Amino acid sequence: MAQAVPERPLAFGGPGKTPAETAAALAAGVARFHVESAHELRVLAALAAERPASGPPVEVLPRFNLPLSDGALHTSALSMGGRPTPFGLDPSEAGEVMRHLTGGSCPGLRVRGIHAHLASGLGAADQLAVAESVVDWAVRLFDRYGVPLHEVNVGGGMAVDYADPGARFDWAGYGAGLARLVAAHPELRLRIEPGRALTAYCGWYATEVLDVKRSHGEDFAVVRGGTHHLRTPATKGHDQPCAVLPVAHWPHGWPRPTARGDGVTVAGQLCTPKDVLARGVPAPGLRAGDRVVFALAGAYAWNISHHDFLMHPRPGFHFLGR
Ligand SMILES: Cc1ncc(COP(=O)(O)O)c(C=O)c1O
Repeated sequence: MAQAVPERPLAFGGPGKTPAETAAALAAGVARFHVESAHELRVLAALAAERPASGPPVEVLPRFNLPLSDGALHTSALSMGGRPTPFGLDPSEAGEVMRHLTGGSCPGLRVRGIHAHLASGLGAADQLAVAESVVDWAVRLFDRYGVPLHEVNVGGGMAVDYADPGARFDWAGYGAGLARLVAAHPELRLRIEPGRALTAYCGWYATEVLDVKRSHGEDFAVVRGGTHHLRTPATKGHDQPCAVLPVAHWPHGWPRPTARGDGVTVAGQLCTPKDVLARGVPAPGLRAGDRVVFALAGAYAWNISHHDFLMHPRPGFHFLGR
C-alpha cells in the first residue's frame, strides 16, 4: 500500500471497505479504523484476531449517523447524517457495538472514540453546534459503558461558498469554539477532517470556447471539456464561478462565432443538457477562441467526474508551486 505520508499514522475510513482492503490495511500497519457498520466491525475483529497477540490492539472509532438540528439539515449543502443514509451506524446500534467492543469478544480491537461526519457546507456556528452535540453524545455513551473516551472525530464539511468565491469559512471563530470545547473535556483529543474548504481554492479548470451560438433567445458557449472534467456544478446544482480571458488571435479564415447578449450559458461537449458549467455568465462579446477559467476546482472536481463519458481527451494537469 503506497503511502502519501510515509511514517505517519493512518486512519482507514469510508463505507464499503472490502475484507481484502481491511486485511491489506492491517498488514500495512494502519492502526485506526473508522467503522461504518456492524458487518465491518465483525470483519475487522476476525481479521485483527489473526494477527500476533503481541502487537498493539487496532484502534476503532465507530462512525455514527447522529441527529442533526433542523437548522443544520436545511443549511448544509449535503447531509450524510441526521436522516436515513448509508453512512455510519444507526445510533440505536450503539449499545450492541459498545458491548461487542468492551465485552472481551474482540481482543484485537480497542474502542478509542467516536467518528461522525454528518454534513458538508456548514458555516462555523452550525459546525460548532454539531461538534458540541457529537461530543456530548459520545461522552454520555462512553460513561454508560465505563470506558475512557480518548478521541472524538467531528468530521469535515466546512462551507465553501460557490456563489461568493471570495468568502471564507470562519476558521478563527470555529477554532475558538473548539478550544472552548476541548477546555471542557481536557482528557479528549478532538479531531476534524476538513476537505473542500482547504483545497477548493487551490485548483482552476481552464478551457477554450469552441463555439458560440444562440438558442431560443439564449447565448450558449460550448467549451472544450465539460462536466466530465468538472462535475461539481452538475452534481451540486450551482454555477461554477469563472472568468473569461479574451483572446485576440483568431487564425482561421472563417467568421468567429460571437455572443450577442450579455449573459452566456457555458456548456461542455457532452450529449446531455446537464453538461452545464455555469449559467448567466456576464460575457458580452464572448467569442470562440476565448478562454474560460473556472475557480474553486481544487476539490470534488476531476476526482468525482465521469471522465470517459463520450471518451473525449483528458485535460492536462499542471502543478504550480512556489
Ligand atoms: C468521512 C468524511 N470526512 C470528511 C469529508 C470532507 O468533507 P468536506 O469536503 O465537505 O469538508 C468527507 C467528504 O465527503 C467525508 O466523507
